[in-house]
Amino acid sequence: MLKLRSARELVRMAAVLMVLFAGVDPLIQVGFAQTQNNRRRVYTNDDIPSRGEAKPAPTNAKPNELEPEQTREAEAKRIAPFVTTPMVVVEKMLEIAQVTTSDVVFDLGSGDGRIVIAAAQKHGARGVGVELDHRLVVESTEKVKELKLEDLVTIREEDLLKTDLSTATVVTVYLLLEANSELRPVLEKQLRPGTRVVAHDIRIPGWESSQQAEVKADGNTHFVYLYKVPDAFRK
Ligand SMILES: C[S@@+](CC[C@H](N)C(=O)[O-])C[C@H]1O[C@@H](n2cnc3c(N)ncnc32)[C@H](O)[C@@H]1O
Repeated sequence: MLKLRSARELVRMAAVLMVLFAGVDPLIQVGFAQTQNNRRRVYTNDDIPSRGEAKPAPTNAKPNELEPEQTREAEAKRIAPFVTTPMVVVEKMLEIAQVTTSDVVFDLGSGDGRIVIAAAQKHGARGVGVELDHRLVVESTEKVKELKLEDLVTIREEDLLKTDLSTATVVTVYLLLEANSELRPVLEKQLRPGTRVVAHDIRIPGWESSQQAEVKADGNTHFVYLYKVPDAFRK
């Protein structure tokens, strides 16, 4: 065990740790907090560090729209907090997967819908966002309508681990490592050969990426991993 000789040394060590930790992906920071607590808990937007472009949860859902029991059920299934992917990283994710008008892009844990909206707007692809948080579903659905993309983009209010992925040709994820581990067998079972999976910052454990990219955003380096089904897991 490391012995600290003085209070000043303790403070210096804490400062070093804070500086090191500041450069870590917001999801990993939140995941670390989760490990510290050693139990699953409900995250709010107050938990999200600012560099992930996190913004307050939308308020356009009526407070009584969901029964408390439904809200509790949804929260129990939540496997990652809401942190947005910077748009420049979204663009790289769609570019590395070579998304075209023939693709159906699924974003698992679609947040404010930015990935599926960009896939439709910039690449003419169809998009399916899968999101558990009712308020984010309302917000992203409204955005889709506002942009007149209803023919291309659908938002499903569903558990991403239970959703039907049979029509996907591209899947995008920005989830915690533990969540990607849970998701992996679902992807291996459901995805058709030739489907591309793109992960932001957090790898799919045990899979081998066929391409990687680095993107600078918010003064930080973000990583994008491209996996091809079934090569990623059948070597
Ligand atoms: C890190 S955010 C990513 C948001 C968006 N994909 C992006 O990259 O900007 C993860 C999202 O997954 C959602 N989520 C967590 N667990 C889920 C589950 N079991 N089913 C569906 N969505 C879930 C959260 O509500 C959150 O919006």
